[in-house]
Amino acid sequence: MKIRKAARREIPRLVELWWDFQTTHPPYNPVFYRNKSKAECLRLCQKYYQVILASKNHIFLVAETNGKLVGFIMGEIGHRPPVYRTVEAGFLSMIYIIPEMQRKGAGTRLVQALEKEFRRRKIRHVELIVDKKNRPALELYRKCGYQDRQVKVYKRL
Ligand SMILES: CC(C)(COP(=O)(O)OP(=O)(O)OC[C@H]1O[C@@H](n2cnc3c(N)ncnc32)[C@H](O)[C@@H]1OP(=O)(O)O)[C@@H](O)C(=O)NCCC(=O)NCCS
Repeated sequence: MKIRKAARREIPRLVELWWDFQTTHPPYNPVFYRNKSKAECLRLCQKYYQVILASKNHIFLVAETNGKLVGFIMGEIGHRPPVYRTVEAGFLSMIYIIPEMQRKGAGTRLVQALEKEFRRRKIRHVELIVDKKNRPALELYRKCGYQDRQVKVYKRL
C-alpha cells in the first residue's frame, strides 16, 4: 500500500470516497449528520476539495493499493490566539478506509503519515473530534496514542 498526497485529478474519486465516509455517520446522530441531496453534496464537495488541495494549511493524503484509492485522511493547520506558547495546532479532520480494506492497518498508516507531515511543518500538537459512539475510530485514535482531553457538548434549539 502506498500513502501519498492526493492530486487534483483525483477529486472525482475523492468526492465519491467522501460520500461513502459521511454516510457512515448518520447512525451516530441522525439529526446532526443529515445531508442535502447526494447530487448537491457531491457538487459542493467537489468545489470544497478544489480549495483544500490548493491550500497550504491543509494536508490531504490518500492510501492507494494496486492503483486504486482505498482511503484518505485530511488534516488542517489552525492558529490559536498568540497568548499561547503553542500557536499552531494540527487538526485531523477526516479519515476513511473503504470497508474491504479496513482492519488491515491502513487507517494507522494514514494517521502516522499525517503526523509525520505535521511534524515536518513543526507542528507539535494534534487534535480531532470524534463521535463518542464511533468505536472503530475511537479505538484507532487510542491505539495511535490520542487521549481524551475535552468534552464537546451540544443542544438542539
Ligand atoms: C476508523 C477507520 C478509519 C479505521 O481504519 P482501519 O484501516 O480499519 O484501521 P486499522 O486497521 O489501522 O486499525 C487500527 C486499530 O483501530 C482499532 N479498530 C479499527 N477498526 C475497529 C473496529 N471496527 N472495531 C474495534 N476496533 C477497531 C483496532 O484497535 C485496530 O487495531 P487491531 O486491528 O490491531 O485490533 C475505519 O473504520 C473507517 O473508515 N471508518 C468509517 C469512517 C470514520 O468513522 N472515520 C472516522 C471519523 S472521526
